[in-house]
Amino acid sequence: MWMPQDLATNKPIYRAIVDCLARDVAAGNLADGTRLPTVRQLSHSMGINMGTVYRAYSLAQQRGLLIKEVGRGSFVRHRPVHGQGENGEPQENPEGITGGVTGGIHEGARAGVDLTRNEPAFLPLDALLRQSLKDIARDSLLDGMMEYGHSQGLSRHREMLCSWLAASQGFSADPDRLIITGGAQQGLTIALGALSNPGDTLLVEDLSYPGVRNLARFFGLGLKSVTLDDEGLVPDALERACVESGAKVLYCMPHAHNPTTATMSRVRRADVLAVVEKHGLMVIEDDVNTHATREAYQPLAALPSERIVYISSLSKIVAPGLRVGMIVAPERVYAEVYAASQTTSWMAPPLMAELACLWIRNGTLQDIVQRRVVLTEQLLTMARQVMGDVPLRYHQANPHLWLPLPSSRSAWSSREFAEMALARGVSVSPANQFSTDQGNINPGIRMCLRQLPGTQLQDGLQKIVSLYHEAPRPQAFSM
Ligand SMILES: Cc1ncc(COP(=O)(O)O)c(C=O)c1O
Repeated sequence: MWMPQDLATNKPIYRAIVDCLARDVAAGNLADGTRLPTVRQLSHSMGINMGTVYRAYSLAQQRGLLIKEVGRGSFVRHRPVHGQGENGEPQENPEGITGGVTGGIHEGARAGVDLTRNEPAFLPLDALLRQSLKDIARDSLLDGMMEYGHSQGLSRHREMLCSWLAASQGFSADPDRLIITGGAQQGLTIALGALSNPGDTLLVEDLSYPGVRNLARFFGLGLKSVTLDDEGLVPDALERACVESGAKVLYCMPHAHNPTTATMSRVRRADVLAVVEKHGLMVIEDDVNTHATREAYQPLAALPSERIVYISSLSKIVAPGLRVGMIVAPERVYAEVYAASQTTSWMAPPLMAELACLWIRNGTLQDIVQRRVVLTEQLLTMARQVMGDVPLRYHQANPHLWLPLPSSRSAWSSREFAEMALARGVSVSPANQFSTDQGNINPGIRMCLRQLPGTQLQDGLQKIVSLYHEAPRPQAFSM
């Protein structure tokens, strides 16, 4: 049976195993089709963690050095795989936003039960869309729809969106400070473009939305991560990060955080705001996951402060394809935000805003939100029943679960856990996909819930529970 020899000591052991396999294949020591030891056998004979061997085999598979055959084992293969990075690993999916498992597992490696897609619970909206487009054609004012209108968006649309913000969250935004955007992602692009310069540092939660990490790279910004707990940003940690980095802009998700579902209490919001005021920060508040909830919640932007740039969209509660979002900026930075909005897109398509406003006006939006709330609650209830005593985190406004993992060195890393899940047919998103401090990853996995045929979702979650209980625990030790 093959046994890796002369492993390089200057690299992680799983990579050294793969390099050794590649060497033996190239030297002709391993014929095409040779059976390789099982993960358990190799981990036993090398005296290393099974997760490490699993990781080595997954990487070897991606590099085209072996194939895994379900129920038979792993076999040497001599065909290289196209589309690899320089080091033979698949290139990272540059998007990393819609839940493609970046950070190690490539798109093609998605499993049958895909729990990586951060989408709202499915509602059939086609018939409604057809009818509403007819209603718009018949009844709506089409003035300004086809022109370079005001870059903020049409005033009647801004007023309607403000009335909805007031009704849904008690946030009375000024229509003159609201700019309609093509989704929250464009709002984030505008805010970062307006508030930062290349080389600046952006304060971010230690686990955060990957779309912002990508934008920071795009704008040439450094990241300084701030510790997060069950209530979101930790004020003392924020204070320390301000002092250490001198950063002036913070991006955060105070409510229904993606991926951890953490939500700031009233007290926490006040404490965070005190640090913000003390250090003169500007805050980009991402509220995209709010609105679809039964609880009374007010965003940071509703508190008396001139330091919050508020961003939201209808993507998570109505439909991502609408691409209707908004940015509400305080007076002190409004001119910069407005200029960045013009620079990046001139304006969002008014026709989509017309549709959104029709739905707000005739109660359809509220109806869609209520139906989604019910669907999300059903999915969460079912998932909690299936997952029993596994220590999950969840929030009624998030259609996903967060499962924190033990952080001991002997436990599986988030990435290893995700790889093991993938081997059992379930794709989940590991913490490294969200981490803003790759040197210090807060371990966990995100599982997005959605309606799947039959009992596929329950079965997939059950596999995660089994894996969770099988995963190596931190070992007791004596001094
Ligand atoms: C936290 C967060 N912010 C922003 C976005 C982007 O939203 P939109 O589709 O409105 O651009 C997402 C999408 O997943 C998200 O999770």
